[in-house]
Amino acid sequence: MFSPESGTGFSAAAPARARRIAVCNQKGGVGKTTTSVNLAAALARRGGRVLLVDLDPQAHATLGLGVDRTKLGASVYEALNEAQRVEEALLRDRAENLDLLPGAIDLAAAEVELVDAEDRENRLGRALGLVDREYRFVVIDCAPSLGILTLNGLVAADSVLVPVQAEYYALEGISRLLETINRVRRALNPRLEVEGVLLTMYSTRLTLARQVAEEVRGFFGEQVFETVIPRSVRLAEAPSFGRPIFEYDGQSAGAQAYAALAAELLARRRMRPDGTQEIRTTGTRSGGEGAGEQEHSPRLSVPATEGEEG
Ligand SMILES: Nc1ncnc2c1ncn2[C@@H]1O[C@H](COP(=O)(O)OP(=O)(O)OP(=O)(O)O)[C@@H](O)[C@H]1O
Ligand SMILES: [Mg+2]
Repeated sequence: MFSPESGTGFSAAAPARARRIAVCNQKGGVGKTTTSVNLAAALARRGGRVLLVDLDPQAHATLGLGVDRTKLGASVYEALNEAQRVEEALLRDRAENLDLLPGAIDLAAAEVELVDAEDRENRLGRALGLVDREYRFVVIDCAPSLGILTLNGLVAADSVLVPVQAEYYALEGISRLLETINRVRRALNPRLEVEGVLLTMYSTRLTLARQVAEEVRGFFGEQVFETVIPRSVRLAEAPSFGRPIFEYDGQSAGAQAYAALAAELLARRRMRPDGTQEIRTTGTRSGGEGAGEQEHSPRLSVPATEGEEG
């Protein structure tokens, strides 16, 4: 088990730039934003500076840190259009050691506007390249889609963390996501790794949750984090106070779980310092992933770059 206090936190020799983690699953409501906000806060509490990027037009991560998205000046939208504007958009110290690159409703327009833009899938990467030396981690909260914004997240990222809700249909759509990740890796970002698969909204009392967890672990094996995020009212309440869980209820099971997740993530990184890791699945999933899905190759705007197959 990873206790919230385990590990020594950050190594003294900070790398040249942040490790960028995209929190991604095109399925809606699986805990991406809750995980992005609270994992970012948990990592920041361990001492290194962290940047949270809200790459979703819903701007829930921005709201979750108490920022009124209607009163924003610049947001990640401006940074996508003009990398240098990232500085202007940054909101400093929204929580301990935690900065925010806020999202805004304008991002919905970017989804359309970027389609024909030059270097369209590397816009976020370029903007982050201007600021991420300041940080130990950048956590990118992706929208529930596999459009150009999420593509920007995956191209900018070093790794992807996939939250999976411990409910029926947990793995529905997961093959599309994996296919997208593999395409991005082939065509645009060969260094993209899997940070891990995270079970969220887990109810210990429910047999169903245990069955789903078993299925997810059967499918993804050791890539599933040992840490599981419990279903917790406190986690659901915290955003309405505009605070990460640690400031809302630091004693809650949710706070402890996200602290443990940060510890586990850091411990895993120490064990597996570098190198591209393929997404391995055992393929032992019992449900019919293939049945409804094999015809749906991701309709992503991945350009036909050299090396891209099909
Ligand atoms: N562990 C949890 N326990 C209880 N409620 C949770 C938990 N995690 C998330 N929630 C709640 O579930 C809902 C969806 O969570 P969240 O917004 O994090 O998902 P999401 O994947 O970001 O959604 P979207 O796809 O719309 O971006 C929210 O109301 C959130 O407060
Ligand atoms: Mg979200």
